[in-house]
Amino acid sequence: MLSSTRELLETAQRNIYAIGAFNVYNLEGVKAVIGAAEAEQSPAMLQLHPSALVYGGFPLVSLCLEAARSSTMPIAVHLDHSTSADDIRMALDSGMLSIMADGSHLPYEQNVTFTKEMTQWAHEKGAIVEAEIGRISGTEDGLSVAEKEAKMTDPDQAVEFIKATKVDALAVTIGNVHGEYKSAPRLDFARLEKIRHLVDVPLVLHGASGLPESMINRSIELGVCKFNVNTEVRQAYMETLQQGLCSSSLKDLLDSMAATIEAMQSVVVEKLRLFGSSGKA
Ligand code: G3H
Ligand code: 13P
Ligand code: ZN
Ligand code: NA
Repeated sequence: MLSSTRELLETAQRNIYAIGAFNVYNLEGVKAVIGAAEAEQSPAMLQLHPSALVYGGFPLVSLCLEAARSSTMPIAVHLDHSTSADDIRMALDSGMLSIMADGSHLPYEQNVTFTKEMTQWAHEKGAIVEAEIGRISGTEDGLSVAEKEAKMTDPDQAVEFIKATKVDALAVTIGNVHGEYKSAPRLDFARLEKIRHLVDVPLVLHGASGLPESMINRSIELGVCKFNVNTEVRQAYMETLQQGLCSSSLKDLLDSMAATIEAMQSVVVEKLRLFGSSGKA
């Protein structure tokens, strides 16, 4: 069934586990996430990056919403990393009730202005909003420790930001990065603990691909109740396709589709178990 992000996150937060939010791009991705949720009796989130919307538009949003509605599991559909009012309008107009208003690339005051405006608008439409302060990097390379820390979420600023913008969930930056970790990941748990102590909205950790079990568990203990996963699922898709085509084991379009779904579904199942949401539907 199509569920609200608020309900999924608040239930997870109360019961100390986390919801996996998986970036999807096509039918295979949607089937993989829903298939995994059903196999694991788990809630889950389908999320669309604006780059996926450029490619798939309304039909892709409709696919996600319909797949959620016809599933027996609680599934929410969310717009990830939207930096423009146009993307947010498109999502709200097409029936998505969960968005990330991402002003994290802006200077703090402009991030507040952007997020506040988008949140007010989304709330009028009955949607809920995730936002980010601090700036998650694409890679850790080339930054000094001081530069990395400057990009992390400041706990006191988080309090001020939530108060000023009225966002419903906060994405924190504590050393997490999108894509692969080029060296062993290092998360600033003391910072996370401080944030958790000061704010009560659900906390989100982006860049979950590449994080080991111990860090996932510690993050959940310290209040993270949504993890975003993109890279590992995409890699499973691409590797399966590449290997299958090179070895000629995939000869037909339908075989290729089925193989990519299976590969992505295995990754999603593994993540749902890791996040503790298996059996929680
Ligand atoms: O945040 C999600 C974007 O799609 C970036 O993902 O780090 O796998 O390129 P990526
Ligand atoms: P990864 O690509 O590291 O899984 O990050 C996903 C993400 O944060 C999507 O918003
Ligand atoms: Zn992200
Ligand atoms: Na990552």
